[in-house]
Amino acid sequence: MATGRRNLFSPVKIGSLTLKNRLTMAPLYLAYPDPGGRANPLILSHYSEMARSGVAMVITESILVNFDQAGGNRFLRGDSDRHVDDLRRLAAAIKEGGAVAGCQINHPGRFSRSPGSLAPSPVPVAGLPAPREMTPEDIRNTVRDYAGAALRVKQAGFDLVEIHGGTGYLPVQFLSPRTNQRTDLYGGNFENRTRFPLEVVRAVRQAVGTDYPVGYRFLADEWLPGGFSLPEALKWARILQDEGISYLSVTAGTYESFFIPEIMDLSAKEGFMADLAAAVKREVTVPVIAAGRISSPALAENLIAEGKADLVGLARVLLADPLWPSKAMTGRDGEINHCLPGCAACMQMVMQETPVVCAAWPDERKKAAKKAVSETGN
Ligand SMILES: Cc1cc2nc3c(=O)[nH]c(=O)nc-3n(C[C@H](O)[C@H](O)[C@H](O)COP(=O)(O)O)c2cc1C
Repeated sequence: MATGRRNLFSPVKIGSLTLKNRLTMAPLYLAYPDPGGRANPLILSHYSEMARSGVAMVITESILVNFDQAGGNRFLRGDSDRHVDDLRRLAAAIKEGGAVAGCQINHPGRFSRSPGSLAPSPVPVAGLPAPREMTPEDIRNTVRDYAGAALRVKQAGFDLVEIHGGTGYLPVQFLSPRTNQRTDLYGGNFENRTRFPLEVVRAVRQAVGTDYPVGYRFLADEWLPGGFSLPEALKWARILQDEGISYLSVTAGTYESFFIPEIMDLSAKEGFMADLAAAVKREVTVPVIAAGRISSPALAENLIAEGKADLVGLARVLLADPLWPSKAMTGRDGEINHCLPGCAACMQMVMQETPVVCAAWPDERKKAAKKAVSETGN
């Protein structure tokens, strides 16, 4: 091991699980599943490679709790027992690769591309079908959808489930005063805006049992005027901890802030969400994961050494170079193939549901990836 990487390569516990080091793969949707959401050889070999990279834990891209409320057609599914076998293959690919396997579950709410999308309030998103305000019955059904998907994740053999509470998806839409304009018990003051995500957390916990780890992708700031922001997020972090959430994986921004020029400049910087993770870490004792262009092993090591985070989440960073963990371990930092700052190619591809070929990959790898994509009929 490279000297000075002792913290990064030390074990850590998440609930009952022991992770071999502080490196995790953060969820990264790449539009690899078949239309209709089936797992195919492309996605299985992708997750196998991510797990074999040496990270201690891989959290999958978000899978849908309700396919009718989909952000697109190429999303893995957790909404029916028919999909458990696909999830089982995914969990097995990750575990055989030597990593703890986690699966993220999601409902996109107003970011769904389906007509009849559901949201706390009918606040539209440019270019997408206008959402319908959720009735109390919609809320009950949706909470049940999350619980059903979480149980399927457990049945499929994953070691943990992660609730997607980031990127402006449904839980955030309830938390945010910008998108939650309800006047019933689910809107208005902070307590009411937390009611829906809290019901989701409790239903998921009940579905999977007390010993099964439940993580939470946590939004620290929407980075939008009038949006959900850090002071309330810190209160929310403490509530999640009290509810028995096993870790908080900290992010910021939503699809409505990602393309604002100042946010694009900010998110081109190394460690652009690390300070928010550190702010959350000061509030809670559960493990905190920091993500966001943690491109150099030195930064990753410092975040752990300085107590700003317990783990680091690598998404595009790991995709661009699956050898990142082994290069970091052996001090070959100069050989790392970096995700290109300012490059939004993968984000643009997934928005068009085009399977991602990373712009930072060497030409040979790009060629092989394009071949693999075409062989799966994509
Ligand atoms: C194309 C793309 C897809 C993503 N998919 C997910 C996802 O499914 N769930 C999630 O919580 N975050 C998702 N993220 C956010 C990443 O997990 C991560 O927080 C972010 O990309 C910053 O880390 P990085 O610089 O290592 O990529 C995605 C990001 C990108 C660019």
